[in-house]
Amino acid sequence: MNILGISAYYHDSAACLVQDGQIVAAAQEERFTRKKHDYRFPGHAVAFCLEQGGIDASQLDLVTFYDKPLLKFDRLLETYIAYAPMGFKMFLMGMPLWLRQKLHTPRELDAGLGKKYSGRYVFTEHHESHAASAFFPSPFEEAAVLTLDGVGEWATGSIALGRGNRLEMKKELRFPHSLGLLYSAFTYFTGFKLNSGEYKLMGLAPYGEPIYKDLMIEKLLDIKDDGSFRMDMSYFGYCHTDVMTTPKMDGLFGGPPRKSETEITQREMDIAASIQAVTEEIVLKIARYAHELTGARNLTMAGGVALNCVANGRVLREGPFDQVWIQPAAGDAGGALGAALFTWHELLDKPREVKPQDSQYGSLLGPSFTNDQIRAFLDSVGAVYQFHEDDEKLVDHVDELIASETVVGHFSDRAEFGPRALGSRSILGDARSTDMQATMNLKIKFRESFRPFAPAVLREDVDEFFEMRTDENSPYMLLVAPVKDAKRLAVDADGARGLDKLKQQRSTVPAITHVDYSARVQTIDMQHHPRFYQIIKRFKDKTGSPVVINTRFNVRGEPIVNTPEDAYRCFMYTNMDALVLENFVMLKPDQPNAQEIDVEAYLAEFALD
Ligand SMILES: [Fe+2]
Repeated sequence: MNILGISAYYHDSAACLVQDGQIVAAAQEERFTRKKHDYRFPGHAVAFCLEQGGIDASQLDLVTFYDKPLLKFDRLLETYIAYAPMGFKMFLMGMPLWLRQKLHTPRELDAGLGKKYSGRYVFTEHHESHAASAFFPSPFEEAAVLTLDGVGEWATGSIALGRGNRLEMKKELRFPHSLGLLYSAFTYFTGFKLNSGEYKLMGLAPYGEPIYKDLMIEKLLDIKDDGSFRMDMSYFGYCHTDVMTTPKMDGLFGGPPRKSETEITQREMDIAASIQAVTEEIVLKIARYAHELTGARNLTMAGGVALNCVANGRVLREGPFDQVWIQPAAGDAGGALGAALFTWHELLDKPREVKPQDSQYGSLLGPSFTNDQIRAFLDSVGAVYQFHEDDEKLVDHVDELIASETVVGHFSDRAEFGPRALGSRSILGDARSTDMQATMNLKIKFRESFRPFAPAVLREDVDEFFEMRTDENSPYMLLVAPVKDAKRLAVDADGARGLDKLKQQRSTVPAITHVDYSARVQTIDMQHHPRFYQIIKRFKDKTGSPVVINTRFNVRGEPIVNTPEDAYRCFMYTNMDALVLENFVMLKPDQPNAQEIDVEAYLAEFALD
């Protein structure tokens, strides 16, 4: 039985194919169209999923859409009426898209599927899709299921109990009160872009002090013991304007929002630290309440807020649950996967098999390319490469490059589903290097120098470097953990402020140690990612270090590379030193036209995010 899940028309469109209950393929549209957060019908992603499943659209048994557009429209109308006559302009601005497209989702889906599908469409609720994506692929027979995001129809957060093939909804938090929108409001206020700059805000937090935390809790929020809260909407503009905060907010923080791309001041860093602290407090409270409400020992999470790995790390360490599993595609792209699995288990009542690792297959659910395909492409552009028939020789070569402080673009296996690169479409580097963070940020990714990098570490060695147990798995890089005391280096007692903290070396693996001595850890094991495991294992044999830097294979504003073409272009237009495409290795100086790098032209292709 073939079920296609689709999320579209908001941001991060995606498709997922579930065949007889197994996730066969999942991909986000932006990876194909090269337009970040692409919201259009995911035609390319659908085509890929169908091809991977060996079927065409006429062989689909059901197509599921990840939310209920009519219910969403109902929220829009009610919100408008509640604030009228304010918000009329916004209402008018939104209407054409609704009238043209969103209110006619079945018609749009028909067209998107080339009129080949004649079955019915299923519409799951937004938070049901997130909840299903969190629980059904998880390795737990029973778990509390927490979803936290901006907003779908009405729910902005929910608690459910997942058991076997069933999800039982227990509680929900409703619009306009929303942890996702609260975080996004400060993403906006600190001058970052909505729905993508949230990561930057989280990355900025360690540079500031949470001096506004009490003020935020006192003025903006009324938080209950169970973690539910109400927001004072006189500070927030998203119900009736096209901006997230009102002038009243400016009064609290000594001035208007920061303009994007202008200097980041101590105020922004302190706001980032404060809203992060508020978020962590709320998430912890909700997690404790979810535990009380469900009595479950384990927790699963999804929704955009579940990408806040600092909060996740605290839930794991300080929360009441034994284990935590987070859907790697926690944002709306993952709704496609959740919608398909919800249909299979919840609506069709099909049994669920719980796998000890999980059923997400390392989230390596996207396209892959054979060595023959890669060779044909490389020859067509005259690339100069070395081909290693033997995997061991290849791994050796890659490790030599990393150990000599070379920045290596690494492309192998199926592409990741979800916003993180997990080793398949990654840029790798030596975490022991003192210059790597600055080099990679400024010369490879062309982004803000404060942006932190993440370590990939052998799972069996995680407790040597980080405050994690070896049974605390983090294959999807969604947990932040403190760096062990033994690996820390003392810094000047007077301490630097703000971005000057960056210049201080804080550990024996400085490139991945954040200024607050934490790191966003990915644990690597043989089952989830054999090639990446071999690379790090052999790197440890050579150098003694079981840790490498793993960052997304892209530049600022660019979707993660998807094809060998994308990877080769990114390699050629940046200062990346080496490129590995499956079993091919290329060095920059050997390439034709290597001197003619035009970084500016390349960056101009991608909008700032
Ligand atoms: Fe969502």
